[in-house]
Formats: sequence, structure tokens, C-alpha cells
Amino acid sequence: MKKITEKEALDLLLQDIKDKKDLTKPENKWILHSIYVGLAARRIAQALDLNESFALKIGYLHDIGRRINHFNHPIEGYFYLKNLGYDDIARYSLTHSFLNNDITKTVGIGPKDKESYDFINNYLQSINKDLFDNIIHLCDLMCLETGFTTIEKRILDVMTRKGVSENSYSHYMDLMDFKSWLEISMKKDLYDLFPEIKKEDLDNRLLDKALLLELIKPKYLTKKK
Ligand SMILES: [Fe+2]
Repeated sequence: MKKITEKEALDLLLQDIKDKKDLTKPENKWILHSIYVGLAARRIAQALDLNESFALKIGYLHDIGRRINHFNHPIEGYFYLKNLGYDDIARYSLTHSFLNNDITKTVGIGPKDKESYDFINNYLQSINKDLFDNIIHLCDLMCLETGFTTIEKRILDVMTRKGVSENSYSHYMDLMDFKSWLEISMKKDLYDLFPEIKKEDLDNRLLDKALLLELIKPKYLTKKK
């Protein structure tokens, strides 16, 4: 198994970018997003006294599968990194899409075809959970291509593209549980680690949460008229 350096991880992420201007192209949005995920993961790792450098590298490369195939990017990224010999970071390409390594805890509808579903499900069940799996999942859900934001704003952004499923509500609730656990462990509010988040996004948190819950709440929570 090969170890990757921070520079090698960033170079791998930026390998198709010949000119800085290319980063602003719509098809490369995921690259800027990945840089922010790396930076966010490093900050959280630092607050938890975990390996910051490892967090940065796995954040940079969590979406590398998007180079190959957008929809199947967790599987593509896993094999891409594994084939390069980076077995220790390949797992996060797969695990980052699923909170608590549970295939039902994802934003959107999850793997569409049975082969992908079975492969991911078997893989998630075959590994021991580690904290970095959930840290990358959470960072993925607070980073746009323009920078850090609130979880609610980012999930609304993802859902407009990926849709809502019957699991969206329980995913969000479990994500809030993980966020609370992190905050207790770090002894600080998550968003205090990210002073760059726009005031407007923080001010709109309750409104965004209400919009999100309206989209994802199960029928039994709908008020009778
Ligand atoms: Fe991502």
C-alpha cells in the first residue's frame, strides 16, 4: 500500500486543470468543492486532535470518482484510488456518501442499479466504522464550490439535483445527531470553526431548515388541515 503526500493528493485532484480559469467551469465545480471539503475536514480533525493531514488528503480526494462518472462516483473513486495503490484512502470515496456507513443514510436516492447497491452495501458492512468516514460525509454536506456553508443550505442544493427519498428525513436527523456529538467532543459550535460562512447563510438557517423539513418530512408529521 502506498502513502500519498498532501501535495500528491492535491496534484491528483488538479491533474486535469491546465489553467486556473478552468476551475470555474461548471464541469469542474466538484474540484473546488473537494478543496473546501479537505480544508473543512482538516479543521475538524484539528479540533478533535485527530490526524489533520490525513483528513485534508481524504477530503481532497473523496469525489475523485467524478473524473470518471458522476453518478457512480463513489465506486469509481474507490477503484481509481485502489488501482493507484492508495488503499487507505480509497475507502472514503465509498463511505463519504453514507452516514454511519449505512447505505440508507444518504442525500438523494442512493445507488440506482442493484449491482452498485449490493457492492456498496457489502463493502460498508465489511469494514469497521471510523470517525473519518462521518467527518468527510459531514464536510461534504457543508461545502459548496464557493466555500463553506450551513448543512441545510448545502442539502437543499444537493436535493435540487438528487431528489428526496423516504430515507432523507432519518438521514438528516442522524446527521444532526452526529453534528451534536462533534460539537460536544470539540467543545464548540461547528460553525464557529468556519468564520468564513456568510452571515446571510447563518441568518437563514431556520428558514432553510423549515424549507428542508417541508421537503423531507414523512407523512405522519404533516399537520392535518
Ligand atoms: Fe463531495
